Amino acid sequence: MIKKRTRRIGILTSGGDCPGLNAVIRAVTKKAIHEYGYEVIGIKDGFEGLLFNRHLKLSEKDVSGILTLGGTILGTTNRANPYKYPVESKDTVVYKDFSGQVIENLRKLKIDRLVCIGGDGTLDTAHRLSLQGVAVVGVPKTIDNDVKGTDITFGFDTAVHIATEGVDRLHTTAESHHRIMILEVMGRSAGWIALYAGLAGGGDGILIPEIPYDLNHIAQHIKDRRKKGKNFTILVVSEGAKPLGGGVTVQRIVKDGSEPVRLGGVSFVIGRELEKLTGIETRNVVLGHLQRGGSPSPFDRILGTQLGSKAVDLIAQGELGCMAGVKNGCLVKVPLSKVAHGSRRVPVDHSLIKDARAIGTCFGDGR
Ligand code: F6P
Repeated sequence: MIKKRTRRIGILTSGGDCPGLNAVIRAVTKKAIHEYGYEVIGIKDGFEGLLFNRHLKLSEKDVSGILTLGGTILGTTNRANPYKYPVESKDTVVYKDFSGQVIENLRKLKIDRLVCIGGDGTLDTAHRLSLQGVAVVGVPKTIDNDVKGTDITFGFDTAVHIATEGVDRLHTTAESHHRIMILEVMGRSAGWIALYAGLAGGGDGILIPEIPYDLNHIAQHIKDRRKKGKNFTILVVSEGAKPLGGGVTVQRIVKDGSEPVRLGGVSFVIGRELEKLTGIETRNVVLGHLQRGGSPSPFDRILGTQLGSKAVDLIAQGELGCMAGVKNGCLVKVPLSKVAHGSRRVPVDHSLIKDARAIGTCFGDGR
């Protein structure tokens, strides 16, 4: 009788880290071993670990106690796209396609299923690998909440909690000093974090990339507040917010990144201009990576566990080339072809925008 080989799952985290990654790693590993008797290989530092053979066998014990930890026990990088990997050549950097090497290394490791936990860039790579015959299942992660094909990504809830606490803390000092306080939050080209934290914290203005702003409208809003006896203003601004007819504020270019532009600093620009337009002292805070660090919220621990569990079920059912996602509160299978390419932005007619406008929140567009 021929003995059937035990299925061996590889798991990697790629792109920027976010709270809840360890919850997924734990769920995938425990369920794969406990319920299906699979073996699990943890790949270190995303696709880089597959290129350079950095990996370890994971046992249930290895993933015990990591549910509450931020970051990822496997490590990650957002500079290791195997289709466009930077290689130093003389004085310059050239980009080469190492996908063949990745596929060959998976074969050598006898990994017959690969779980890729990441945002749109990682899931795009996962999709391309699946088109080349790799048996992949994706799990969507990012604080930005902008992965297509799912209503929510883990990490977002934690980021919103931290950003909301930021708004709450700015409130008291803004009120004491009668100042304009601006909180700049992450999110790239999607305004989800600013919208949710702005609403939860009672921001007077919320600026998101999807609705270009005109500073004159914001200045007028602040002056109107003054007339009503409100001597302070809180603005929650997404790092990707941009003026009508203008561009985003770029903080730096990450040379080797598959997505080189890093946003940041728009709150400085807005603060300077608003101070001139209103004559009111203005301060700004860039919340930055605080939104990505630390322990995941209970919601993200649960969501990470659910998505990890769903990913293993998809593997067991032979459903490949897909991602575990959430639609209308249910766990679903989403083809990777529908996830790759682009991000999920806030619709300008989103009900939360309507609700916010209805209570007088300014989006900088004069409406
Ligand atoms: O995609 C997650 C995110 O935190 C974005 O909100 C932000 O623009 C970017 O990553 C920052 O990337 P890095 O960690 O490379 O500075």
